[in-house]
Formats: sequence, C-alpha cells, structure tokens
Amino acid sequence: MQKKGISQKQRASKKQAARPSVQKIEKKPKEDVEKDVASDAGKRTGKTLQPLRGMKDLLPKDGRYWQRFYRSVVSITNAYNFGYMETPVMEEVSLFVRSIGKGTDVVEKEMYIFEDRDGTKVALRPEHTAGLVRAFITHGMHTLPQPVKVWTYGPTFRHERPQAGRYREFHQFDCETFGARDAVVDAELIVVAYNLLRDVGIPTQVHINSLGSKEDRENYVIELVAYLRSKRAYLSELSKQRINKNPLRVLDSKEPEDQPIIEEAPQIIDWLSEGSKQYFMKVLEYLDELDVPYVLRPTLVRGLDYYTDTVFELYPEGEEATSQGALASGGRYDGLVEQLGGQHTPACGFGLGFERVVNILKKRGEDAGESGLVDQSPIYFAQLGEQARQRGLKLVETLRREGIFVYHNLGKPSLKAQLEIANRYNVTHTLILGQKEVQDGTIIVRNMESGIQEIIDQKKLVNEVRKLIA
Ligand code: HAM
Repeated sequence: MQKKGISQKQRASKKQAARPSVQKIEKKPKEDVEKDVASDAGKRTGKTLQPLRGMKDLLPKDGRYWQRFYRSVVSITNAYNFGYMETPVMEEVSLFVRSIGKGTDVVEKEMYIFEDRDGTKVALRPEHTAGLVRAFITHGMHTLPQPVKVWTYGPTFRHERPQAGRYREFHQFDCETFGARDAVVDAELIVVAYNLLRDVGIPTQVHINSLGSKEDRENYVIELVAYLRSKRAYLSELSKQRINKNPLRVLDSKEPEDQPIIEEAPQIIDWLSEGSKQYFMKVLEYLDELDVPYVLRPTLVRGLDYYTDTVFELYPEGEEATSQGALASGGRYDGLVEQLGGQHTPACGFGLGFERVVNILKKRGEDAGESGLVDQSPIYFAQLGEQARQRGLKLVETLRREGIFVYHNLGKPSLKAQLEIANRYNVTHTLILGQKEVQDGTIIVRNMESGIQEIIDQKKLVNEVRKLIA
C-alpha cells in the first residue's frame, strides 16, 4: 500500500537518505597511490606530523597505566571465569545497522564506513557487542554449556566530535554473558565493572534503569511520543528531530530547554510489565546484598537500540552523569542474538572505556609525583664496567624471575649518571655492582637517604632485596 502524499520515488530517495552514507574508494593504479603518498608527505613538510583528529598515540609515560589497568582486567575476568575472545576490527556495515539500530547516532553519524576493494560495504567496529554476537552465532556457541561468559578488548571507532574523554578511536574492555536470563547475571556483570574500578582505586556509583521487554518499550514509546509532540514547541532543535527518529534519546538530552520537559515526561518504569518489574527488583536486591551503591535514573535509556530490561552506567563517585563521563555502560539484550539469525539467546554485558579510566589513573599518578615511566620500585640497580654490565643483566633477570622488579639502565656507563637517575626515581636503595664485586661475588647495597653502604653476597641478593621491599 502506498502512503498518502509520498510517491514511490520520494520514498526510495528517503530510504537512501536514512542509510549511512558509503564513501566509495576508487581503485587507483599503484604509481598514483605512491605519488599521492609522496605529495602528502611533501605538503606536510615543515609541520609536525600528527595522528588523525580524535585519535591518539599512547606514549611510554602513559603506557604503564594502561598495562597496569589491563593486568587488573585480566585478573578480574579470570576470577569471574570469563573466557577471552577477539573478533575482527572490521565487519559488514549491515551487522551494526541491524544490531545497534538505524536511527541511532552511532549508525547514522558516527560509523567509519567504506567500500572494500571487492565492493563489500564494511565498517570499523563502533563497539564490541555486535561482533561478539555475530561470532557467537558463527561458531554455534549456543551448543556450549550455557551461560557462555566472554570478554574482549580492543580498539573501537566512532566519528564523534572529539573532546575530553571522547575520542574517535578508543579502546573498550567488554564483557558479555550469553544464554541466561537471570537477575544474578546482570548483577554479576555490574559487580565485575564496579569491583574492577574499585580495585584500581576508582570508587563509582551505578546509575540504573529498566527498559522492560520489547513490548513494554513499544507501548511506552507511543505514550512518550504523544507527550513530546504536545511539548514540541518548547524542545531544542535536536530533540524535535529525535521525536520521530529516536524518541527515547530525547530523555538523554543535555540541552537546558529540554530539562523541564524531560522532568515531567512519563517514566518507563510505570510501563513495565509485572515480569519486567519483578526482574528489575531482583537485580536491585542483588546489588543491595553486594553493597554496590546505585541510583535509579528513570531517564537512562542508552544510545543503542538492542537493550531490553536492565540498563546501567558507572560514573566516578560524586560525579554527575554526562555523555563523556560514563566509565562503563551496558545492559541486557535478550532479543539481539535471535534478531541476527541465531537461536533465542538472552544476553547481558557491558563495555568500559579504557581511555577514560586511564586518564583518571594518570591524573592521580601525576598528582602523586610518579615518574610515569615504568612500574614503580624502591630499588635501582647500577653497574660499573663491562663485566659488571654482563653480570648485572643476569642479576636483574634472577630478580625478575622471583617477581622482583628493579629500575636499571645498563646503557649508562657513568655511576654518577646512574645515581642521579636513581634519585629521580626516588628509590630507597641502590644496588651497585663494580669490577671488584663481580670478582668477589658480592654487591653493594646503598641506602639512598643515609648514604650508608653494606656489602652482601650475591647469592643472598633475592632475600635481601625482598627484605628491603617489605
Ligand atoms: P557505550 O556506552 O556506547 O556502550 O560504550 C561503552 C563505554 O565505552 C562507555 O561507557 C565509555 O566509557 C566508552 N566510550 C564510548 N564512546 C567513547 C568515545 N567516543 N571515547 C572514549 N570512550 C568512549 C557500548 O559500546 C555497548 N556495546 C556496551 C555493551 C556491552 N552493552 C552490552 N554489552
């Protein structure tokens, strides 16, 4: 049936406009490509080369915060039995359109899309969930003992307006549990994100809401749209556009003129079916039992279409909800696996923004006066002379195998320069190995504060260093 007032042609062009635009890559002969690269480099002569806007290099001074946090991620995912998996950085565009939703900002405005050389329309992943669900279906993971608990980590891409805490390439740690609809699963995922951040010294508060079942949400949206239309004249331009496209997102608006209208808007919690209400109460009960602090946020709707029932976001304690502020966010998505062609598989998960967490860790490290180069140690190892350098390498390795990390710089020939570095690291003790000590099988331990030196047997080094660290 043809809709009144819209011709078929108009509808076709409207449909086209609703699709994310695909930038066609022309195939160029090899020589042309080489010429382009050369002239591009030429254009930049005299200017420092920069990464693309919204993308960042990770430098060694920040790398250690990154790695330290990554180690915490590995440790907590092991403790909660999540298996590690990875999916490709690129997938077919349609995967993201079908899962994240056509009317969402991520799909409409933010995906990096291009045509591959064989004509396939591909996108750099804007998040991990869609790829993980695709892999779950591809590998028939529904045949594994359920629930299947997985985690992944890697770069994700969104062409957003860059600002503090918002990048175009960012890294997500992502956890998903497939194959169980049980409030304890939702609570466990929230607890993993909460405990991880608490363990690295970032206390957070969980903002939580329920979007109910697909039907609850559809009924609610009808009511919400009617309400928003009645207030249309007072809404911001962006929210006006969203009324038809993605009305739930109006609730997320940060525009000042929208706030009184959002406050008065019907709340989804009143539209939940009895089953969804009970489910949500159960999730909250678990959080109470586990002492996870949370606030109910009726306007929390999330920007991706696949969610049902529980949705949540974690913010640093005492901070307001902002679009760049959520350290981790997620929720339940019971319909997505089936929607993408798999068996009915309820699922729940969250994604955590590495950059946002590392920015906080780094800021704290800088405030505490850390040097920011490598892991901290109270011990520096200095050597003098060729033989000492060779023997030193072995001693450093012996300590490392015992899990003891010491600063050292075997490339520095002068003892004075090494002691200066030791001072910059603020170590309590320096181990000094010279030619004589190599012959004697001994090593000097210098107390950096008092300047007192003690000679010890190299065989006792591990024990002595352990005592010093303790
Ligand atoms: P999301 O809220 O779009 O959810 O992203 C998850 C987290 O990624 C955010 O809480 C934030 O820390 C970080 N993040 C998002 N965008 C940026 C950006 N432009 N720059 C820096 N960090 C950013 C998802 O992606 C869902 N896949 C989460 C999920 C997993 N739901 C169920 N399972």
